Amino acid sequence: MAGVRGRVSYDAPLDEYTSFKIGGPADVLVEPADVEDVGLLLKQARKNKIPLFVVGGTNLLIRDGGIRGIVVSLAKLRAIKEEPSDVLYAEGGVGMPTLIGYAVRRSLAGLEWAAGIPGTVGGCVVMNAGTRLGEMKDSLKAVRVVTMKGEVVDLPAATLRFEYRRAHLPKGIVVGAWLQLRQGEKAEISRTVTEYLHYRKDTQPLTMPSAGCVFKNPPRDSAGRLVESMGLKGWRVGDAEVSTKHGNFIVNRGHATAADVIALIGKVRRAVKRRAGVELDLELKIVGDA
Ligand code: EPU
Repeated sequence: MAGVRGRVSYDAPLDEYTSFKIGGPADVLVEPADVEDVGLLLKQARKNKIPLFVVGGTNLLIRDGGIRGIVVSLAKLRAIKEEPSDVLYAEGGVGMPTLIGYAVRRSLAGLEWAAGIPGTVGGCVVMNAGTRLGEMKDSLKAVRVVTMKGEVVDLPAATLRFEYRRAHLPKGIVVGAWLQLRQGEKAEISRTVTEYLHYRKDTQPLTMPSAGCVFKNPPRDSAGRLVESMGLKGWRVGDAEVSTKHGNFIVNRGHATAADVIALIGKVRRAVKRRAGVELDLELKIVGDA
């Protein structure tokens, strides 16, 4: 940690860093002060062969034993900058809802697809987050990555490969992204965003801790619809429950452990496989020690 200026804590509980409110501790949790600090941290972690994991926190289940090595939170990288030609630069730790709010205030259209996605800009780039209306790659102009050597590289989106919920990026940390937007009508952008937020509030259990959708949608179908049609809504293991509102959400009813969630995921997968012959792939990322 020599020279690192950000906040460093040891044996740090991670549950409050995740939207699921679940997860064991990190050996070391670091909130780098800025991009330079990220570079220093990566260089030193690599030299000392210490594993490193970036916690965005919304599409994530951390196992009950926690995470060995260094966990990085980009909570201090929260700047947004307006650039010429309707481009916004947002640092990796900026929350998507904040970025959308900024875009609406500046009458910039193009991010409406992301309304309701709770993740960070960095997290949304890494997993090419998306909804029915679009995905991250549609808005992305370029990405700023700090490599494992501690170097800052800017990569035009056109040179990167994206898949469904996955971006191919060099090893390192996404510390910022340029979004290509366009001038629009403020009232109209705002209306679209609000409509979409209402749709989600009506169809998703947003008032309970969860990690968003658990499974990727199978081709031409919806995992939520499939889970519902099998009658699996309301299934429970401990305090983990298949949401009664949306079948592709598992909610934490208070004291769910990661082990509960993982057991429930297994039950749902086996039931869907047995009865519908469909293998559900995880969208949720599961990390850490059991
Ligand atoms: N449906 C059901 N029962 C359910 C859930 C859905 O019958 O329990 C039906 C709905 O009535 C609708 C269809 O399935 O006819 C599709 O449902 P929805 O509009 O909720 O979309 P989805 O495919 O289930 C996707 C994303 C969500 C995103 C919504 C809204 C994936 C895996 N899921 O869900 O993303 O919020 O569209 O745009 O891509 C996430 O990524 O964490 C996530 C929740």
